[in-house]
Amino acid sequence: VSSVVPAAVPVKSENTLDLGILEAPLLVFGGPYSNLQATRALGVEVQRRGFDPENVICTGDVVAYCADAQATVDEVRRISAHVVMGNCEESLGLEQDDCGCGFEEGSACDLLSVQWYAKASKALGNEAKAWMRSLPRTITFEMSGRSFAVIHGGAQSISKFVFLSDEERVKQEELGVLGVDAVIGGHCGLPFTQRLATGVWHNAGVIGMPANDGTPRTWFSTLTPSSEGIRFQHHALDYDPIPAARSMERKGLPEAYAKTLLDGLWPNMDVLPESERRVRGTPITPNTLLW
Ligand SMILES: [Fe+2]
Repeated sequence: VSSVVPAAVPVKSENTLDLGILEAPLLVFGGPYSNLQATRALGVEVQRRGFDPENVICTGDVVAYCADAQATVDEVRRISAHVVMGNCEESLGLEQDDCGCGFEEGSACDLLSVQWYAKASKALGNEAKAWMRSLPRTITFEMSGRSFAVIHGGAQSISKFVFLSDEERVKQEELGVLGVDAVIGGHCGLPFTQRLATGVWHNAGVIGMPANDGTPRTWFSTLTPSSEGIRFQHHALDYDPIPAARSMERKGLPEAYAKTLLDGLWPNMDVLPESERRVRGTPITPNTLLW
């Protein structure tokens, strides 16, 4: 008679949603930021590419700078069955005083966030706020035998910025904490895929604001499994930013961000590392990784 050793069961907190094994391609997007026009355009892309809402994941910050908080929440819930909690969902859902982006007090980001946050909080219904509170902080799944965690910022801090230029050690540590082969992150607003010594860090970018590259393009991504591996691919979202910018102006939202929608340049670079600051205004060439 052999002794029965209980199998190691990974501890999943109530804040983690496990999707199990995914065999179909996945579409990932971040940061709708109350940009209803961009979110609707993404809905068209999702349909055109034949994705079911079950195979779409949003990395959070559904509501932020732009004009249509409530309608954007409704549209994101229609498009995407899975949404990770962003710092904006945490703050608005829990009725906190600010967006929790981690901006320094008195900085330009801080002053601008005060303007949109109050308007967004007022525009959202109780049901939308309850939905925000209910969101998982981590979504896990397996694809082609590799384990993934989708988070907003960092494993332990929802508003941790992780940029391409940040040391690999930092990303490797996050993978370790989460116990996965790859992380899909959001929050920083810039699309990138990085092969690490062991594993991958992927950020789909955001659909609601341009990537500071001097073009009005915004970004989403797809992960496609095949016999050769998983293909990570960024895509520019095809949408007209003019109505989104006009709508912000009409509602008295920060002009600085309405301008960003059109010229593709962030109003300030407080949160950016030196390396990302240097490429301001340089159009992004989307890269593909086969892993
Ligand atoms: Fe965020």
